[in-house]
Amino acid sequence: MAVSDWSTDADLNVSIDGINIAEGCPPSNVNNALRAIMANVKDLMGTLAGDIADAISATSANFNRFFPQGCRMLFQQSAAPSGWTKVTDTAYDNVALRLVTGSVANRTSGKKFTTCMATGRASTNTAAGGTVGNTTLSVAQLARHSHTVANVPNTWRHMVDGDDAGFQGIQSFATKTSSTTGSSSAHNHSFSGASHGHRLDLDINFIDCIVAVRNA
Ligand SMILES: [Fe+2]
Repeated sequence: MAVSDWSTDADLNVSIDGINIAEGCPPSNVNNALRAIMANVKDLMGTLAGDIADAISATSANFNRFFPQGCRMLFQQSAAPSGWTKVTDTAYDNVALRLVTGSVANRTSGKKFTTCMATGRASTNTAAGGTVGNTTLSVAQLARHSHTVANVPNTWRHMVDGDDAGFQGIQSFATKTSSTTGSSSAHNHSFSGASHGHRLDLDINFIDCIVAVRNA
């Protein structure tokens, strides 16, 4: 008699394996009934063990169906979960993730992630060229200034020929200063500069991943 045939209502359990254990049963039935109970429980244990094994097997089959051996996943934790092995190849260290729809490939010939994304990372230098135009200054744009005319001493000369023969004098005058000119006005220059660029390499190393959707 299987345990599953027993009743949860004690009053209804009046026999086991054909042994009468109803109220007022013969005393000789008690030990036989106890042995029958033990046998039934032992049989149940075997059944349960088999059921549990089947359940574990089914669960494992399902787990392998969703996560086949060798499949790879991303985990945001330092250690791999139980049953998984952390990938430590250098190609997987300090790199970026790239999503692709084609075949996956890793890039290992570029820069490490932290190198490429370093704070304050500078671009290359580029010499900037350009031409400043000439400007002819107007008088107003000249610095304010004046000129001096050197003094002339008294000068005499002796004319010996012609109608002007005799002494001729030239009156002296002191050093003279002209009036000022120029206003120191501002002036500008044209400038033509060539456009230029700078280079910032973003050849970051990466591993490729795909996005997959589970079938309906
Ligand atoms: Fe520049």
